Amino acid sequence: MNERSIVILTGAGISKESGLSTFRDADGIWATVRIEDVATPQAFRSNPVRVHDFYNDRRRQLCDAAIQPNAAHRALARLEAEWPGPVLLVTQNIDDLHERAGSRAVLHMHGELRKIRCGHCQSVREWLADLSVGTACPSCGHVAGLRPHVVWFGEMPLGMDDIHAALDACDLFVSIGTSGNVYPAAGFVDEVRRGGLAHTVELNLEPSVGASYFAEAIHGPATEIVPAFVERILAKGW
Ligand code: APR
Repeated sequence: MNERSIVILTGAGISKESGLSTFRDADGIWATVRIEDVATPQAFRSNPVRVHDFYNDRRRQLCDAAIQPNAAHRALARLEAEWPGPVLLVTQNIDDLHERAGSRAVLHMHGELRKIRCGHCQSVREWLADLSVGTACPSCGHVAGLRPHVVWFGEMPLGMDDIHAALDACDLFVSIGTSGNVYPAAGFVDEVRRGGLAHTVELNLEPSVGASYFAEAIHGPATEIVPAFVERILAKGW
């Protein structure tokens, strides 16, 4: 029985063909909005309304029926279902397209757009409506403490202990649809390489910043290269 373990890292590129913007492409989010205005704790303290507007727009878009998982998301769900060993899907994305495609072992290291957190009592809950400054926390009643359950620049990503344990134990590390610009995710491939004999593969539209760290690279649209890659892995491993 092939019990070898697989860790997959995804970024915004896997959701691009579902209609969600990436961040650093020419038409990406950071081409029109400044990180320091909407994606830092300081931004939220100084102008919470602007931060809420930014995430309310993205939450509404994610709830639009036109935004659906694509063939790449579905291929990763198939890999999890059919691979005999452990498969952990670590995503930098805050959308829920992996789950809607059927993936179950999903770790959102940058949080989730469909959840909110109270800065006062730290409770986290599903939340699909717009969030405003005057909304009271349903758990503690505190007003003005509710924020998107999203990791901002300068904050610690979620699940890092589990991620490091999975990276150290994996036999295959696959990075999909990420530019390799943001740490700690950008450093995962080097951590795996230093750990020993795991195979490392990058699947991306174009070479990422960290492309040279990967033993193998496959470039093209995710909806084409990810299903073909999963087919190959299931048929003959690596
Ligand atoms: N198929 C495959 N890859 C694609 C596609 C596609 N259809 N379209 C774009 N890409 C690739 C781009 O070439 C790019 O390398 O996806 C990558 C997206 O990179 P970024 O926009 O930098 O997104 P990501 O790497 O996920 O950003 C990481 O930065 O801003 C923070 O928190 C945010 O989680 C995000 C983190």
